[in-house]
Amino acid sequence: MRKKVTVVGAGNVGANCALRIAEKELADVVLVDVVEGVPQGKGLDLLESGPVQGYDVMVTGANDYGPTEGSDLAIITAGFPRKPGMSRDDLLIANYEVIKTATEQFAKRSPESVIVVVTNPLDAMAQAAQWVSGFPRNRVVGMAGVLDSARFRTFVAQALQVSVENVVGVVMGGHGDTMVPLVRLSSVSGIPLTELLDQPTLDAIVTRTQNGGAEIVKYLKTGSAYYAPSAAAVEMAESILKDKKKVLPCSALLEGEYGIHGVFVGVPVKLGAGGIEKIYEIQLTEAEKALLAKSAAAVQELVDVLKAKQ
Ligand code: APR
Repeated sequence: MRKKVTVVGAGNVGANCALRIAEKELADVVLVDVVEGVPQGKGLDLLESGPVQGYDVMVTGANDYGPTEGSDLAIITAGFPRKPGMSRDDLLIANYEVIKTATEQFAKRSPESVIVVVTNPLDAMAQAAQWVSGFPRNRVVGMAGVLDSARFRTFVAQALQVSVENVVGVVMGGHGDTMVPLVRLSSVSGIPLTELLDQPTLDAIVTRTQNGGAEIVKYLKTGSAYYAPSAAAVEMAESILKDKKKVLPCSALLEGEYGIHGVFVGVPVKLGAGGIEKIYEIQLTEAEKALLAKSAAAVQELVDVLKAKQ
């Protein structure tokens, strides 16, 4: 039987997730959005691309969650995007309300599914989805590291004039200004980056990666990135739906790993049919540990604000 994916939010990220899922024939897609007509219209438009692109999945749109029943996976993108000058954290409260409703409505109709959260501020929103759904921690995962790593890999490939496919970029921590690109563990086909680029170049790449989201917002002015975020979310969805067991940097609820308790933070995980099948605890230097702890503390601050609101 065909798999079924619900994409909550039929905006820029959501619609592109639906498009990529359809083009890869990963699953039937149900787009859900609060705006009347938009998910239905985009769903039908995507369905009508099928004959040309050669895909046979069903794409539909709705303003309620009835049609999402029995989904294998949800990608939650609903919310408000970042405007220029606005940090991801400014979005906290507004997007929490959106995530709460979306998760409640979705989870009760698909209690065995996996939820991939994309809405920002990412780590805190993933945490909210886990609370509200009551799902075990392996079935709620946040999309951040794959995107941050993709940006890092792009800049490294540009600097070295090599294929992006050969660049392995390890990024940990929260999806925010405190993210931790781990240059020491990154490579080009196994060749350590530290042997290929000098320190000032590496520092510049790390800074650009940390500000990667803001760089796009500055250009777009009225919204935030969506091509790379949707590609990243769909890579995670594909690994889960096909049980590929890819090892990807994702936001996961840590319960003691890296000395962090009860917070969603970006770490390397194995993604398969069960969602997060393993969290990899790698040996970090003292400096890296300190950066990760700082990043987790920044996420914790947001979570505390949400807890006070509950
Ligand atoms: N339920 C369903 N959909 C909702 C709800 C809700 N409660 N509230 C808002 N939406 C919809 C909006 O109607 C809109 O179509 O979410 C969609 C968001 O789309 P965009 O504004 O285009 O934003 P997008 O660029 O897709 O970003 C969405 O992903 O990367 C993150 O920071 C980004 O948090 C933002 C999210």
